Amino acid sequence: MSTKKSTTTTEMLTQKIKLPNSLQIPQIHLGLYEVPPSQTSSVVRTALGVGYRAFDTAQWYSNEAEAGRAISSFLSSPSLNRDGLARSDIFYTTKLRHNYESYDAARESIARSVEASGLGYVDLFLLHSPLGGRKAREASWRALCDAVSEGKVRMAGVSNFGVAHLREFSERGLEREKWPAVNQIECHPFNTQTEIRKVCEEMGIAVQAYAPLARGMRFNARGSKLGGLAKKYGCSEAQILVRWGLQKGFVVLPKSTNEGRMKENADVGWFEISEEDVEVLDGLNEGLVTDWDPTDAP
Ligand code: A2P
Repeated sequence: MSTKKSTTTTEMLTQKIKLPNSLQIPQIHLGLYEVPPSQTSSVVRTALGVGYRAFDTAQWYSNEAEAGRAISSFLSSPSLNRDGLARSDIFYTTKLRHNYESYDAARESIARSVEASGLGYVDLFLLHSPLGGRKAREASWRALCDAVSEGKVRMAGVSNFGVAHLREFSERGLEREKWPAVNQIECHPFNTQTEIRKVCEEMGIAVQAYAPLARGMRFNARGSKLGGLAKKYGCSEAQILVRWGLQKGFVVLPKSTNEGRMKENADVGWFEISEEDVEVLDGLNEGLVTDWDPTDAP
């Protein structure tokens, strides 16, 4: 059965894993997808209070500036920032909405996001999708790599890239350190993304799992294996899904706007899913796409 582990919620939220590029990344991030700009500030402030240190936004979400401002005001408030956190204790990710064939347009867009964050630099900047074609992916990636060289961005990565898009990095003859640090993809037991993960592993690209809760779409299904496992381990279905992602070695991005659920999603350090039960979860794969899937885009 489960082996009890004693990692606290706070420790879970500060726990980092080492990426193939040797940089470190917190293993649990708060996803800010679909958080309305008007609520972002309070959601980020609440999450910082709970202990979250990593936030995942995007140009597309229209809440980059709000997320950045909430982080800055938390850090500069002695009454909120009781642990004396510094900017370097926070991990801020954003994403380029469009891939541009024009290198200059991509550079400008990246610079605007860095500026909007108000944080001085972005920890991780991703190409949000492979859409736009090979030429646009190439020019936008070059722009991102140059932003890293200039220090405005600490690491560059991709999101929603399929096998063929990932292979382009080796086909282009780019040196290894210019390959993406991460590929952020939808990943949970109902969509295990085996092929893409295999290529990520071969190429030394870390997997970030978005929609790790499958957007709640498979919760509370009568007689489900997920429900059975939650009962067995004495935790919630959400906690089983977060734990599955962590045990696979992914960076997971559960999204919640609710303080209790934010805590619940990170309170997963006290149990471990057995290998046998991880296999049961792997067996739930049905290729569920909760939103979009551009991994086959030309
Ligand atoms: P809410 O923001 O009201 O908590 P995903 O991370 O897969 O994208 O899933 C996000 C969805 O799951 C949101 O609708 C979120 O709603 C909900 N959610 C987040 N945490 C939990 C939880 N612990 N239990 C049930 N639903 C959750």
